[in-house]
Amino acid sequence: MTAPPSLTLRTPDDWHLHLRDGAMLQAVVGATSRQFRRAIVMPNLVPPVRQSADAARYRDAILAAVPPGQAFDPLMTLYLTEETDPEDLRRGVEAGIVTAVKLYPAGATTNSDAGVRNLRVLDPVFEMLTRLGAPLLIHGEVVDPEIDIFDREAVFIERELIPLRARHPELKVVFEHITTADAVAYVESEGPTLAATLTAHHLRLNRNDLLVGGMRPHHFCLPVAKRETHRLALRKAATSGNPKFFLGTDSAPHLVADKESACGCAGIFSAPIALESYATSFEEDNALGRLEAFASEFGPRFYGLPLNKGTVTLERIATPVEADWPTPLGPVRIYHGGETLAWRLKSG
Ligand code: NCD
Ligand code: ZN
Repeated sequence: MTAPPSLTLRTPDDWHLHLRDGAMLQAVVGATSRQFRRAIVMPNLVPPVRQSADAARYRDAILAAVPPGQAFDPLMTLYLTEETDPEDLRRGVEAGIVTAVKLYPAGATTNSDAGVRNLRVLDPVFEMLTRLGAPLLIHGEVVDPEIDIFDREAVFIERELIPLRARHPELKVVFEHITTADAVAYVESEGPTLAATLTAHHLRLNRNDLLVGGMRPHHFCLPVAKRETHRLALRKAATSGNPKFFLGTDSAPHLVADKESACGCAGIFSAPIALESYATSFEEDNALGRLEAFASEFGPRFYGLPLNKGTVTLERIATPVEADWPTPLGPVRIYHGGETLAWRLKSG
């Protein structure tokens, strides 16, 4: 099937994004606001965004950093800790400041030291979320040192997710940035309160891309890319038209110097070319006709938010991607940097 010369979509949203703060926030927010109307903003700052007042301040800082003339709504999340106060959460959600709560198992990923050790302690928070109809967003990996890093997502389903959802069947849960066929199968088998996001890079990378021919720190993120059979399952889920799977880039900027290091940071910065990358994957699977629903409809429907009104247009024009995104702190490597992509987001 030949691809059309251009593709116009309802303006999409990014349902999982890291914007950081300070100079990094200033440097990266425009990459997202050019592509997306809204984004679910992750709270893993140092210190984390734990209370509604922190979220309100962070939201103001993001809005102040959006380039003039661009409309962008950051949807804020609270970083769940064992001290999270259900009443503070209620006030934040009712005031329209907080959209969701993020659960990081302690130590699972970048800046997650303050995360949760025992999920049962948080049952009152989960009850409040259920009452408010606000979703719980989960980084689904166990942190047990005895579990191999490639198995941590699959083990999380059995050990944590199934028991949690049995205790709170009405709680809306987003299983974030899934990387395994196990997660796809679990999400497919469950009812409408469970959905999952898929990143652009996990639709394209397997663990060979990380390790064969030399270690590629710019392909390292968490959850780590798995073997090819898993990548194919993710592709199938993304392009299936099943509304339980929607777009969340997990774009996570780190300085090149911090990634090319003896202990390289986890995170892939895909914001500048996110739609172009997803379009490339959907085109490869003859599924361009399903990109709009994945990028612009299934996410807001799950969150109970209105669909965006505007449109964006992707042109099928071969376009080289710059290697790096400049910031005052140093360069950040762009996912696909140095490659030529077949699609280009039309500006304006
Ligand atoms: C994220 C980051 O850098 O904040 N890194 C990543 O590899 N995805 C944290 C996260 O979402 O796990
Ligand atoms: Zn993330």
